Amino acid sequence: MDKIIVLDFGSQYNRLIARRIREFGVYSEILPFDTDIKNLEDKNVKGIILSGGPSSVYEENAPILKKEIFELDIPFLGICYGMQLTQMLLGGTITKTTKREYGKSELTLLKKTAITKNIPTKSTVWMSHGDHVDHLADNFELLGKTPSAFALVKHKTKPLYNVQFHPEVTHTDYGKQFLKNFTLDICNAKQEWSLDNFIEQKINNINTRVQNEEVILALSGGVDSSVVATLIHQAIGERLTCVFVDTGLLRKDEGDKVMDLYAKHFNINVIRINAKQDFLSNLTGITDPEQKRKVIGNTFIDIFKTFKEDHKDATFLAQGTIYPDVIESMSAIGPSETIKSHHNVGGLPKELNFELLEPLRELFKDEVRKVGLKLGIPKQMIMRHPFPGPGLGIRILGEVTQAKVDILKNADNIFIEELYYNDLYGKVSQSFAVLLPVKTVGVMGDKRTYEFVCALRSADTFDFMTATFSKLPHTFLENVSARIINEVSGINRVVYDITSKPPGTIEWE
Ligand code: XMP
Repeated sequence: MDKIIVLDFGSQYNRLIARRIREFGVYSEILPFDTDIKNLEDKNVKGIILSGGPSSVYEENAPILKKEIFELDIPFLGICYGMQLTQMLLGGTITKTTKREYGKSELTLLKKTAITKNIPTKSTVWMSHGDHVDHLADNFELLGKTPSAFALVKHKTKPLYNVQFHPEVTHTDYGKQFLKNFTLDICNAKQEWSLDNFIEQKINNINTRVQNEEVILALSGGVDSSVVATLIHQAIGERLTCVFVDTGLLRKDEGDKVMDLYAKHFNINVIRINAKQDFLSNLTGITDPEQKRKVIGNTFIDIFKTFKEDHKDATFLAQGTIYPDVIESMSAIGPSETIKSHHNVGGLPKELNFELLEPLRELFKDEVRKVGLKLGIPKQMIMRHPFPGPGLGIRILGEVTQAKVDILKNADNIFIEELYYNDLYGKVSQSFAVLLPVKTVGVMGDKRTYEFVCALRSADTFDFMTATFSKLPHTFLENVSARIINEVSGINRVVYDITSKPPGTIEWE
């Protein structure tokens, strides 16, 4: 299949580049900037995009490419840092500035060529850069400028294009059109990527790989593992066994809902393990958030190991790894500091000796959702907000007890119910209730109460790396608060979290 490669120089927007290209029906992959050129000499690679990034080309340890890459006989598009790097490698010069140009700017086209097809002479583009090119490399010509920068340049004879702005973000009015012109007209990439083909091909691949062997899958009820379960079930039917570990720390009635949908409705082989007591007793006395994550992760692994003992015949372990997980694990720009050990929870140790089956490895989250809908999973399940592996264990601050779990499940359920009822659920990214280890005085009827405080958290975010708190209407919050206090015994005060991320995180622990 034809593909466009995005070389990753660390821009927070580079996933968007690949997403946009896939929207044109062309497959796109993100690879580390230092990928061996040999791996790019593939007839399916129809073009290469050099992404933006936070570095400065002349600084020590800046991510740099070998100049020989431009000898590959295919089109290149350098975006922001990718432009500066191309220019620097081919003989241009870059000026380092301390002043950033950040925000909208007006692009004026000086000359029309294939890259500017269907784009007017003046349009708005999004800039986010410090350095800029002040002298173009030989044989490059200026096709467009903004008041402060060379914005669009092209090599006079080769298909090498550079843009200082970010075509991948929606603030650039004709950004999609720039990328489309590059992908379809300049690279001539064939539109062979579609999710229907994906499903058909994956089912064939799974059949070929698995043959007559057995596959097991830890089903969490979340979107990724549910889509994997449904897809593999379509391929191999009864030879898939799912294990659903009921930790007792799930949302209200979650366990029953998962069993109803996947075991009853889809007829998938799902074994439900009721491990509530194991989790609760292992968490006794533990209050530190990271320690809780460890205990929950280890309890899960122990249960899974026992399960594996009873399913010795299974050769394959299916996992809901998706493309952002793959990109994160191979980034050459270096890991960011661990704030929370998310990825350790629910991860299974290598010594379990399975062959891994990860059919969603190439998909972005919204593509996973589309595949789920195509496979018949109800929209309400597919569009659910994310739920952390350690579940309510990290939403009950301090020690976890059965009584607190019951209180929180009910409060959270009211919040979510009201969001649906008021048509707000789909408009926010993640919402939930948190139970604080603090009691306050209240008055109900004519009586004094002394009960727990519940915090409501709702975040709006694109990638969960940064977020703002959702501006939910006051009347809505008032109603949720009243319902929680009236209907959930154990809570007499509700507060709303108005912290963005950073400095807060989305979860409280
Ligand atoms: P934070 O709290 O880091 O959350 O802003 C970002 C996203 O990650 C989820 N999250 C977790 N997911 N295990 C998970 O599987 C975890 O330990 C964990 N902690 C946070 C959180 O719900 C949000 O979607």
